[in-house]
Amino acid sequence: MNTLDIQRNVPLAPLTTLELGGAAKHFVRVQSEPALIDALHWATARDCPVAILGGGSNLIVPDEGYDGLVVQLGMSDLTFRDGGLIQAGAGVPWEDVVDGAVFRGWAGVECLTGIPGSTGATPIQNVGAYGQEVAGVIDRVRVVRRDTLEAEELNPSECELDYRNSVFKRHPDRFVVTGVDFALRPDGPPSIRYAELQDNVAAHASLGDVRRAVLELRKRKSMVLDRGDANHRSAGSFFLNPVVPTNQAETLVERAVDEGLVTTASEVPRYPAQEGRTKLAAGWLIEKAGIAKGTRRGAIGVSTNHALALVHHGGGTTAELLAFAEEIRARVRDRFGVDLEREPRLLQ
Ligand code: EPU
Repeated sequence: MNTLDIQRNVPLAPLTTLELGGAAKHFVRVQSEPALIDALHWATARDCPVAILGGGSNLIVPDEGYDGLVVQLGMSDLTFRDGGLIQAGAGVPWEDVVDGAVFRGWAGVECLTGIPGSTGATPIQNVGAYGQEVAGVIDRVRVVRRDTLEAEELNPSECELDYRNSVFKRHPDRFVVTGVDFALRPDGPPSIRYAELQDNVAAHASLGDVRRAVLELRKRKSMVLDRGDANHRSAGSFFLNPVVPTNQAETLVERAVDEGLVTTASEVPRYPAQEGRTKLAAGWLIEKAGIAKGTRRGAIGVSTNHALALVHHGGGTTAELLAFAEEIRARVRDRFGVDLEREPRLLQ
């Protein structure tokens, strides 16, 4: 076994973008698969629960912290191979992957720019934005199985990738993602599918143009990590966009028109989903339920630029964050009969 530098009582708030929550009883940063396996053995031998930490941009840490071992993944290998293959360790900042791909003229991730966090998290929640998802470029996911502590590779269908979902999210105790191989499209055209993006780029835009336009849109919504932005302490979208039966969505739209929330049905944002289902926009539902952008409850507020992000303004607690999130859920449920599901993971 390599020497593991296991630390005690390590504050987790500084390792997350929300900057909230308590300490980890035990903490270790691992840079390789063998070190990860050693850490998992260490925990098994002590019957100690384990939680995995990536970039901390989609994580809520309870105020009481974590009574176990938090393993931060630092695998930082990043290789670009001829033909569009990228092999990245779980700890590689995701933006480095986007940067290298766009620089080489490889299409497939140009819309996935400005997303804080590490590469290992991308298959877990099937990161997506502006009409692209990592599901479109994942070639292999390298994992360590939690039951056998052996390394394995999963192909895309084994990852069961879906809207902000995967086998990793459905079964958090089954695997630790240690690295991802992506297959991009050298000289491929950029993806300009998202309506808002179409309005902001020229017809023959390059990959770089599209990436710049996405960054600009995200900045306007405070969805890039910029310490100068008053909304910067957040976990991005706090709720998923709810996917409901299409007839329920249509009833909601009719009511929105009848009650004067919109003048025409086309003003209600919604997108076709799997058969017979429609995806609604959670940010729209929150605003129309009466929670305006910028609404505050003490140190926690709704972002002034996007109703779907909850922001910590400093000096707050996770309990306050979760209480405000519950209030928002209740308001949307009462107003529209739709249940919002939390998007960031709660460490427990
Ligand atoms: N909207 C409002 N009010 C708001 C925000 C949005 O009415 O405060 C409306 C917009 O006008 C638009 C619709 O809701 O008609 C959708 O808004 P937007 O394009 O901003 O995207 P989103 O659905 O709120 C999703 C992802 C984002 C991703 C964007 C762009 C989820 C949970 N969120 O947000 O991902 O960047 O689309 O593709 O799917 C994240 O996951 O953390 C994230 C930022």
